[in-house]
Amino acid sequence: VRTHPTDVAVIGAGVAGLGVAWRAAQRGLAVTVLDPAPGSGASHVAAGMIAPVTEVAYGEEAVLGVHLASAGRWPRFAAELEEATGMSVGYRAHGTLAVAFDADDLRSLADLHAFQRSLGLDAEALASRECRDLEPALAPGVRGGLHVPGDHQVDTRPTWAALLAAAEGAGASLRPERVEGVVVEGDRAVGVRLGDGALLPATTVVLAAGSWSGGIIGVPPEAVPPVRPVKGQILRLRGPERPALLGRTVRGVVAGGSVYLVPRADGRLVVGATVEEQGFDTTVTAEAVYELLRDALRLVPGVATLELVEASAGLRPGTPDNAPLLGPSLLDGLVLATGHYRHGFLLLPVTADGIGEYLASGVLPDDLAPLSPHRFVGHGVGA
Ligand code: GLY
Repeated sequence: VRTHPTDVAVIGAGVAGLGVAWRAAQRGLAVTVLDPAPGSGASHVAAGMIAPVTEVAYGEEAVLGVHLASAGRWPRFAAELEEATGMSVGYRAHGTLAVAFDADDLRSLADLHAFQRSLGLDAEALASRECRDLEPALAPGVRGGLHVPGDHQVDTRPTWAALLAAAEGAGASLRPERVEGVVVEGDRAVGVRLGDGALLPATTVVLAAGSWSGGIIGVPPEAVPPVRPVKGQILRLRGPERPALLGRTVRGVVAGGSVYLVPRADGRLVVGATVEEQGFDTTVTAEAVYELLRDALRLVPGVATLELVEASAGLRPGTPDNAPLLGPSLLDGLVLATGHYRHGFLLLPVTADGIGEYLASGVLPDDLAPLSPHRFVGHGVGA
């Protein structure tokens, strides 16, 4: 059985897939997005930090320029999404405060600050009292911190809903169906095989299935994206809108571990996250919930009175260098928009704009060149 052909078949209805679908549909392409459980993957559990400075990681400097560029596009991207849909995405340009719990944590924060400064990033060292002047709910024992005004956040689930509305408003369609595999004829992808056996012919297939992107059958070994699942457990709490417990995102180094607290405008609070290499396991464990709450309470004792609403686990798609895979793969007709690791929301604007542009014009914007899937060819990964 063949169904009506489409210009672009997008595998995966997380924010990457929907963002690409929106931009491609805006450019006049016929777009079909396929996902058996739309929006239930990493996009559903993510915190939504747009935090290239506090999340900068040693050894991952190569991707920093793209992170900063994508963060810079967020205000306009959010405004455009809200204008297209009439929905709010909760973008908050409120800055981030990273704090240290004990003396060793303060040293590791000082190292991070030196690293940030060496990269020309904007972060200001604050004494304990100055941290508490910014965030009075912090525990008095907090040793000191870094104020990063440029690290922001977006509310994740409303953003996902707005992307779906925007993509559909631009003409894309979402089919809640499982993709059996990519169909290859000669040496190019020509569509996808659906779970019911039907063929959906497509000029281009976009693989945006997060951690599952490496397991789609039919893709020749050299074009399989080298992604692995990196589990993150995360909590959602709720408190009063006023007075707000926190005015900005607070991150902490706590006895060598790390925790973040992301306050939404209406009193909800996201507390995350573990980083675990456990395969495709999404079990929520007592130990992780305990440790996240323990560390959050050490920094902000008032968290104790909030309602615990949700504990969940998601799978970040990590890659060998933890930078995303954006652009054409080694298989003609197959384009990748995956491997976003900890930065799916941060990288949404460059992913949507860049892959949308490539689909419409055949030209990949220069800023995506360092993220080409071809960088792993010949390194024995993905085969
Ligand atoms: N970027 C937040 C996380 O991956 O937990």
